[in-house]
Amino acid sequence: MTDTAVPWSGPLVTGSEIARLAGVTRAAVSNWRRRHADFPSPAGGGVSSPLFELGEVQDWLKVRRKGRDMSVDAQLWQILRGFYGGDMLAALADIAADLAEGQEERTKSPRSALALGRRLAAQSSVGDVVEGLAGRYADSVRRTGGSDRVTSPRIARAVGQLAGEVAEGTTVFDPACGIGTLLLSVGPVRGVRRCGQDVDDRSARFARLRANLTGRGRLDVVTGDSMRSDGWTDLSADLVICDPPNAGAAPGRAEVPPDSGWELGTPSRAEGELAWLQHAYAHTAPGGRLFMVMPASVAHRKAGRRIRGALVRGGILVQVVALPAGSAASHSLPVHIWHLRRPHAAHTVADVRMVDLTGNDPDTWAEPCPDQVADVSPDELLDDMVDFTPTRYVTGVRAGHQSEYEQLRRDLRERAAWLAEILPPLVAGGGSDAASRCGRRGHREALRAVHEAEEQMERLAELTRKAVTLAREGLANGSLKPGDQHPGPAS
Ligand SMILES: C[S@@+](CC[C@H](N)C(=O)[O-])C[C@H]1O[C@@H](n2cnc3c(N)ncnc32)[C@H](O)[C@@H]1O
Repeated sequence: MTDTAVPWSGPLVTGSEIARLAGVTRAAVSNWRRRHADFPSPAGGGVSSPLFELGEVQDWLKVRRKGRDMSVDAQLWQILRGFYGGDMLAALADIAADLAEGQEERTKSPRSALALGRRLAAQSSVGDVVEGLAGRYADSVRRTGGSDRVTSPRIARAVGQLAGEVAEGTTVFDPACGIGTLLLSVGPVRGVRRCGQDVDDRSARFARLRANLTGRGRLDVVTGDSMRSDGWTDLSADLVICDPPNAGAAPGRAEVPPDSGWELGTPSRAEGELAWLQHAYAHTAPGGRLFMVMPASVAHRKAGRRIRGALVRGGILVQVVALPAGSAASHSLPVHIWHLRRPHAAHTVADVRMVDLTGNDPDTWAEPCPDQVADVSPDELLDDMVDFTPTRYVTGVRAGHQSEYEQLRRDLRERAAWLAEILPPLVAGGGSDAASRCGRRGHREALRAVHEAEEQMERLAELTRKAVTLAREGLANGSLKPGDQHPGPAS
């Protein structure tokens, strides 16, 4: 794309963006719209999400002296947004390429954006400009609910901390590397070999340029579907990290090449994350480590218990860490990090460390305290649930009534949210023989989901009973008292 290829009437901004520009709240912008007849009229968007011409808004703010000057990096973002619309990944890849090449002719991004990018780079560095844009992209995706497209900085930091020191010469691999946030967050700045694959060409392009322009050396990214067309068949990495996409089920048996096999057992179609886990594990060298970012539900879903059992029996699972609520990019559901290792030929099956950081501040990484850790024996894990939920085990070793009670409440919240997710959407069926009308597979899957919801309900009931008993005991013997924020029952 060039400046002249598409008519460009100027970037559009949302109400929230105007608030950020002017340094006021979103409510203040709504007030300006209501009270000032000369406030710019919407130039696009819908009634509930109007968009305004950035230039008109800036002029209005200047006259009213309500705003401060828009920072150059905010202007750059807005120009790119105006030019590329929703395709900000293409915007990032194009401007990074133009900034890297430094050529004047045939630029991909709009010249006005390139001029601003260069102005910013002159004040700091091209790497800083590119990192700033990556941060803004992650932030905008977070606000639009796209945890599937980026790894949040909080999760990237947690993985970096858990991976610890990574020696120079190590090979690191991420089979769903996106814009490279996770890959670039582990190990020393230079001296490691970083490899990745992503199905999205724009992400792959940007990740490569990002690594180069920020001085992290070379990032080898293959574009393509990792699960169906592995671009790294011979790669055996010392450290594998992966925050898999949550949409899409596991590929069916027929779609996977016969020699790829499933080392730990064939995942059901509903267990896409366990298919990703096995793909990542297949690329982990003997003695190597794997860190998987997992939705909390994968720790206890019934369909995955056989594979979870294989991880315990094989001495592969090292620890499961429940991250603080709010660690993910776009939702407050808990997220776990599974730490695995590929044992050398001779191995012993050891206890698995369960770490519960759910009560910590998501913005500050802190090493777990002793009461946030439980070492669980394989025998205890290998019951009929093979549940990897840390709160389940850390609760058991907590001494205090209060902390145990809080754990139970958190666990209940998490499971109740999951229960709401797994109940399948159903529509009016119009009579008998539903299976043949809606398709046998769809029918079977819906029934399976209902069955899983039933099991989840039983677990919820069990946890609720435990919490009620603790609350009764604690209130009776004075070890617990009402907290400050208890809303009381609805009348
Ligand atoms: C949660 S994001 C991970 C982001 C990445 N860890 C990062 O640091 O930017 C999931 C990524 O998986 C990619 N993806 C989805 N399906 C894929 C597939 N079949 N093969 C390879 N990548 C895929 C998406 O494009 C997205 O970039």
